[in-house]
Amino acid sequence: MNPSEVSRTALATALMRAVHSRADPAPFLDDHWGDRLIPDFVRAGFRQGALDQMAPDLRARAMAAPEALLDRVLRANAAYADVIVRARYTEDALRAAVEQGASQYVIVGAGFDSFACRGPEFASQLNIYEVDHPATQAFKRKRLSECGVAESGLLSFIAADLATEDLPTALARSSFDKARRTFFSWLGVTVYLTREANWATLRAIASCAPSGSELVFTYVDDAVFGADFAATASFRELRRSVASVKESFLSGFNPKTLAAELSDVGLQLLEDLDGNQMVARYDRAGANGLQSNEAAHIAHARIL
Ligand SMILES: C[S@@+](CC[C@H](N)C(=O)[O-])C[C@H]1O[C@@H](n2cnc3c(N)ncnc32)[C@H](O)[C@@H]1O
Repeated sequence: MNPSEVSRTALATALMRAVHSRADPAPFLDDHWGDRLIPDFVRAGFRQGALDQMAPDLRARAMAAPEALLDRVLRANAAYADVIVRARYTEDALRAAVEQGASQYVIVGAGFDSFACRGPEFASQLNIYEVDHPATQAFKRKRLSECGVAESGLLSFIAADLATEDLPTALARSSFDKARRTFFSWLGVTVYLTREANWATLRAIASCAPSGSELVFTYVDDAVFGADFAATASFRELRRSVASVKESFLSGFNPKTLAAELSDVGLQLLEDLDGNQMVARYDRAGANGLQSNEAAHIAHARIL
C-alpha cells in the first residue's frame, strides 16, 4: 500500500466528524473515531497545507496553537456541514430500515466510516460490508490494528476499484447475500466518479438486492459544472483543494430529473434534500453555526 494513494478526502471527513463530536456546541453525532484513527503525520500534513496558504503574520499566530488551527480549518471547509449531516441522516435511515427487516449494510466508498467500530445496539445482528479503494482500505485496516481494534466477525472488508470493477462482482467475493434485504450508503463518492460510473453503480445496486432494500447517497447539483454557476468563495476553495489532492469533482446529478432517472433504473426516490434542508433538519436553531453548501444533496431511495 502506498500512503500517498490513500484518499485525502476520506481522512479529512473522519476528522470533521471528530471535530463536530468533540468541539461543536450541540453535537448530533457521537463519532470521535477520526481523532483515534487518523495518525499524527496526516494531521501534520493538513496543518502544513493550511499554513502554506496563510500570510506570514497570520501563520506565526496560528503556529502557536496548531491543534486549534486544524479544527478551525476543518470547520471552515465548505463540505463540513454536508459531511456531518449526511452521517447522521444515513444512520437514522439505516436504523429505520433495520427495524423494517434490513439485515445487511453495504458502505460503498467507506473511507474511515466508524459505524462498525461504534456498533450501536440496533446493529448487533447486522452484517456490514465496507467496499473501498484498495489503498484507502488497507490503510484503514492497518490503523485499526495499530489502535488495537479487533475486526468484528460481522464486518467484511471488500477492496475494489469501482472505476474498473462493478459492485456486484466485488460483493460476490464476500458472504453478501443477494436475497437478503440490504441498506446501502454511498456518501461523498459520486462527485469523484464519472456520470457513467455513477449510473452503472446505481443500476448495479438496484439489481443486487431484493425489492424494499434502500440506498442513501450524496451528490452535487450538476449545475456546478455549468459556466454560469455562481460559486461562493468557500465552494471554489473546496473544488481547488480536492483537485490539488487528485480527487477532482467529475460529475453530479440534476435534482429536477433525478426521480425519473432513478425510476428508469429500478429505484424509487423517497427523499432528496438540498444543503439548506439538510442543515435545517439537524441544526434548526443554528446552535452549531453550520453553513450549508449550496450544491450539496442527499438522496434516499428504495429498490423497486
Ligand atoms: C470523500 S471520501 C468519503 C468517505 C466516507 N464515505 C465518508 O463519508 O467519510 C470518498 C471515498 O470514496 C472512495 N472512492 C473514490 N473513488 C473510488 C473508486 N474508484 N473505487 C472505490 N472507492 C472509491 C475513496 O477511497 C474514499 O474512501
